[in-house]
Order: sequence, then C-alpha cells, then structure tokens
Amino acid sequence: MIDEDRPSAISLRAMRDTDIEAASLLSKALGWPHRLEDWQFMFAAGHGLVAETPAGELVGTILWWTYGAHDASLGMVIVSGAWQGHGIGRRLMSGARSALPGRTLHLNATPVGIPLYEKLGFSPCGLVEQRQAIAATQPLISLPEGMRLRPAGQSDLAALSALDHAATGMARQDLLHALLGAGRGIVVDDGGTIVGYSICRPFGWGNVIGPVIATTDLFASAMIAHWIGSGAGQFTRIDVPAACGLTAWLDEVGLPRVDTVTTMRTATDREGARGTTVFALCSQALG
Ligand SMILES: CC(C)(COP(=O)(O)OP(=O)(O)OC[C@H]1O[C@@H](n2cnc3c(N)ncnc32)[C@H](O)[C@@H]1OP(=O)(O)O)[C@@H](O)C(=O)NCCC(=O)NCCS
Repeated sequence: MIDEDRPSAISLRAMRDTDIEAASLLSKALGWPHRLEDWQFMFAAGHGLVAETPAGELVGTILWWTYGAHDASLGMVIVSGAWQGHGIGRRLMSGARSALPGRTLHLNATPVGIPLYEKLGFSPCGLVEQRQAIAATQPLISLPEGMRLRPAGQSDLAALSALDHAATGMARQDLLHALLGAGRGIVVDDGGTIVGYSICRPFGWGNVIGPVIATTDLFASAMIAHWIGSGAGQFTRIDVPAACGLTAWLDEVGLPRVDTVTTMRTATDREGARGTTVFALCSQALG
C-alpha cells in the first residue's frame, strides 16, 4: 500500500452538490436503486459528509435530515467495498453525530450495518419490510359513507404534519413539504377532517408509496390501493413496518417482501403513537 492509499489518509468533509454523481455510483455498486435524482432530492432536504482519498476519490458517504429540534434520521451510510473494515464507517457516523448534538437519532439498518450502530449506542426497535413489484390492478377497498379520498396539496401541509406528528412523534413539516413537491399526495377526508395521508413519488426503478399515515388499517389500505391502481404496470415499492398490520394484505395484492431492515434509534424512552399509525416510511433513509 502506498501512503496515499492508507485508511488514515482518508479525510472527511461536508458533502457538496458536485459529489452527488460519485455518491450515486457507490450506491449503484451495492445494487441499491437510487437514481441521481433521488440522491439530489435527499441531499437537498438534508446534509451529508463524504470520505475521500488524498487524490479526491470519494469512498464513503453519510446523509442526515433534521426533524424539528429533537430528532434526526441518518441514511446512505456507505463505504466503498475496498475500504470497508478500516474504521471509515465509524468515522462517518461520529462526524454526523457531532453535527446533531442532543437529538434522538433514527436509522434503518442493513444486517451489515447493525454491529456498527449497536457499538454507537443505537438500539433495535422494529423491523421494516421492503416490498416491491410491478403493480397489478387496483384492489377494491370501500371507505365508509361520508369519507373520500381526495388529492392533497401544500395547503394541507399543516394538517398532514399534525397527523404525521401524532404517528411519528417527529416534526417533519419541511420534509413533507419537499415530498409533496416531488410527488403526488392524497388524503382520506372524513367530512373535512383528515384521517390519513399518503404521498407517491418517482424513486429508483419506478415509484415509491410513502409515507402512508392513517388512523386505521382500512384508510391506509384504501390509499395504497389507490396508488397501486394509478401505477398499474409500473414498478412500485413500499417500505412498511412489519408490525403495521398490512403485511398479509400486501402479499395478497401483489407487493411481496424482498428484504427486511432493522429500525434503530438512540433513545429507548419514546412515547408511542396516539391512535395514528405509520403504515409506510418515506424511505428507509428518510424514515
Ligand atoms: C456498514 C458499513 C458502512 C460499515 O463501514 P466500515 O467502514 O466497513 O465500518 P468500520 O470499519 O468503521 O467498522 C465499524 C465497527 O463495526 C464493527 N463491525 C463491522 N462489521 C462487523 C461484523 N460483521 N460483526 C461485528 N462487528 C462488526 C467493526 O469491528 C468496527 O468496530 P470498532 O470500531 O469497534 O473496531 C459498510 O460495511 C458498508 O458500506 N456496507 C454496505 C452498505 C450498507 O449496508 N450500509 C449500511 C446502511 S444502514
């Protein structure tokens, strides 16, 4: 190994727009589906660090998103194959943590990431199933009388954020604003009260449904059925908490599980949701 190729010669610095292309090659090399546009969206909504060689080759990434004053999600933690096992992942995580003092940190861990996160004080708190397929025809779900699905726009942002906060405990208004700008939103409207919302946007090999937040399974499945119908024939992905109660139904409607990740966070004393449930994440990285 020449000096410049030593792991200790790797430096960390803030990610820039001009790093996105090289960063996207790191995720592509892992077989992850993120397009350049997905990286651009994630970076525009958050912050990042990169690890680079003295020659300027990008060999590691981490992104994070702050939600209100108390929470942050971490994602896209990647160290290129040849450089793994030399402490770069740990350095990227430490760098991100220093930028997020006092916050509860959330992430969804691949099996290879779990040992690192456990060492840094993260605890597992659930499983998330990655489900995907070419969407088939729209499943039939009827809403009770007086309730309807309707498109959601930025004017619904405050109501969506309130429902989202009830389910996640996080203040994600800025993220929801960005997601609504990148995709289409719908709500379940109960005589003027919003009891569920969902966003579907282009991502990876097709579309991703998420978030899906609702007060009942029925409202969540009505919104997911709507997106399956509107995306029939297109690749459709959804990342659902394994405990959300919809996994058997998702099998039936043709969105099989292809992978599972572990949700982890740094605080174990979070208050549970009050009558509102997360049925799908925005994405594994964004939470
Ligand atoms: C996960 C990943 C980022 C770790 O990066 P890395 O640079 O290889 O990790 P490090 O060398 O900093 O190792 C971090 C710690 O985890 C430990 N560790 C790593 N793999 C381990 C394993 N299989 N079992 C036990 N401990 C393990 C290391 O011993 C090290 O501990 P130490 O600092 O106390 O010695 C890297 O493997 C990667 O990019 N994987 C593919 C992408 C991915 O899945 N990312 C996670 C997304 S959530």
